[in-house]
Amino acid sequence: MLNNSKWISYPTNEKFTCPVLKKVFQACGEIKKATIEMTSLGCYFATLGGERIGDFILAPGFTSSKRTQVQKYDITNLIKEENELRVTLSEGWFKGRINWRNNQDRPNIYPALICEIKLEYKDGRVEYIYSDENWEVALSKITFADIYDGEHYDANYEEKFIPVKVQDYDRDRLVKQQGEKIIEQETIKPHRIFKTPKGETVIDFNQNLTGYFEISLDAKKGDRVKLSVAEVLDKDGNIYTENYRTAKAEFIYTAKDGYQTYKPKLTFYGFRYIRVDEFPGEIAADNIKAIVVHSDIKRTGYLNSSSPLLNKLFSNIIWGQKGNFLDIPTDCPQRDERMGWTGDAQVFVKTASYNYDVEKFFEKWLTDLRLDQAPSGYVPSVIPQVWGDDWSGCGWGDASTICPYQIYLTYGNRDILKKQFKSMCGYLKYIGSKSTTKYLWTGCEHFADWLGLDAPAGSYKGSSRDDFLASAYYYYSTDIVCKTGKIIGKNVEKYERLRENILNKIRKTYKEYKTQTECVIALHFGIATDKKAVSKQLADMIKANGTRLQTGFLGTPYLLHALSSNGYTELAYNLLLQENYPSWLYSVKQGATTIWEHWDGVNDKGEFWSKDMNSFNHYAYGSVADWVYGVACGINTVEDKPGFEEVVIAPNPTKKLSWLSAKIETRKGTASSAWYKEGDKFRYEITTPTNATVIIDGKEYKVEKGSYVF
Ligand code: BGC
Repeated sequence: MLNNSKWISYPTNEKFTCPVLKKVFQACGEIKKATIEMTSLGCYFATLGGERIGDFILAPGFTSSKRTQVQKYDITNLIKEENELRVTLSEGWFKGRINWRNNQDRPNIYPALICEIKLEYKDGRVEYIYSDENWEVALSKITFADIYDGEHYDANYEEKFIPVKVQDYDRDRLVKQQGEKIIEQETIKPHRIFKTPKGETVIDFNQNLTGYFEISLDAKKGDRVKLSVAEVLDKDGNIYTENYRTAKAEFIYTAKDGYQTYKPKLTFYGFRYIRVDEFPGEIAADNIKAIVVHSDIKRTGYLNSSSPLLNKLFSNIIWGQKGNFLDIPTDCPQRDERMGWTGDAQVFVKTASYNYDVEKFFEKWLTDLRLDQAPSGYVPSVIPQVWGDDWSGCGWGDASTICPYQIYLTYGNRDILKKQFKSMCGYLKYIGSKSTTKYLWTGCEHFADWLGLDAPAGSYKGSSRDDFLASAYYYYSTDIVCKTGKIIGKNVEKYERLRENILNKIRKTYKEYKTQTECVIALHFGIATDKKAVSKQLADMIKANGTRLQTGFLGTPYLLHALSSNGYTELAYNLLLQENYPSWLYSVKQGATTIWEHWDGVNDKGEFWSKDMNSFNHYAYGSVADWVYGVACGINTVEDKPGFEEVVIAPNPTKKLSWLSAKIETRKGTASSAWYKEGDKFRYEITTPTNATVIIDGKEYKVEKGSYVF
């Protein structure tokens, strides 16, 4: 790919500055079609004759450092007789500050461009223009850009062009664009502009979002705009930025004379509020708008109910996904992380795949998982690997089995299983090689029930036992490998024996479950033998805690499932509808517009639980939506007829709500299920895209594609 083109860069490595590479060329004749294929190490944006090429934000995206996606754009309409192509580069994810590596990696690799322009003339001639030593480069008006720290732009900076440096970087890394591009999705006007008690001017967009903003202003040369972003206000009503940790997330703009508009091009921010640190005059609503960006995934799932609080939770879950599906599934979009934490993606993948069409998105990310998985089978905790760990934790490494299997279930995609099978088996091999006990996973490091509320003082980890949780995930992933192998025609006897041995050993070793999360996992993974007793124990623990959960990252996604599968559906609803801390609706009542990382991100005194680990846009606990789709409204695909080729619709209503509805645009068509309380009874409205079994009050009805009322 791009075999005749050369990697070109600025001749020296200027930290965080953004070189602009330039090529002037002529079109000699009438153009039939013109295209450009291009990519960069770092991020790029390109213009031709001043017009932006394509709409891919932060191209070429975030991938394993082993590969770089190449983009192709149709530029026919931009070609004139005389053309100036400009491509501005930043260090981006490839080389910039991502994770805590502080730019120390790859000291000898510079942000670089490679591209090829193809001009097809109406008279049949074809002309190519390649990136090579005949290009020029200057440091650009973007005087600083970094994923975490924001962007600085100086409209008066004079670019001084010099010859580019040709670099001998490899072309083997080049692959076709695989994922969706990131694009601008919507704009939001300021909801209000106000002065805080500290006297600072703050703009509130009334929605925590991921993206950037566009400023428009009349200014004099040298006037400055300086903006800082925040997700929340503190209890006094002042802007709070400590939870961004070392991410500066700022914007500094030096104006030219006259009317001008600008939006950052090589960074993104997670924010609801903007503090106006400097602006020529008083800022007004017309001077700024927020621009939401995320991967170009299509919305497919909708939840709605008679409860405004629940509807806000549903909205927050959607915004959590919008804000964190930015080429990779990030943990959060604002602080100095924004990485593809595997555990977060794993707990949310089912909800994600109902809310949006994320098949391609996960195919891309799982390709990176495969590439970054070590020969030992160890799956890094963040994909793309930018963290440098060398161990997989339970529930995190299991993204390698759970995510592909869920994508298979939701979309009926067997190819993803074929592609990931080796990686799945490798992960099991890794566990086997590290564990200190055969058929269990013991003696290793884990994040475990991360942020569980039963954590010992000063710890982020809930008090569920590492070895139990790890062994349970070892069993669960082995089960997925068995099922996957069978689906794609592999001999899985070895794994079936392993699965049985793990199950026996866990049951022998762990006869009691000590926490809510341990009970949940034992029930949901089919480990508990006496389900009745364990579900009662779980229910009793929840009730003794004032009908409140204590679960963290591993227990929460399955909590309501473990209850409703064992006769405690009403208790599951009580947790879903609980408004006091800790609960999903607690954050809604505190004004959340996205899902919080921690149950008490803000406690009831208005204080923050921690400044280190307190994101207000962390989608993981939004995984509760899959219970609403799959249990409360009861829409499910049949496991051996995945992709909704055959459907089971088994709603589980509650009198606590007047109505609830769910709709999923599946690959086979619309599946929907709504129920309405009518006196003592319920009316059900159901639509199935294919043959379905509808189960109402325990009674089964076999129906064909169509809409039905029960
Ligand atoms: C991230 C999490 C992640 C975790 C590992 C955090 O810093 O934000 O979401 O899964 O580390 O436990």
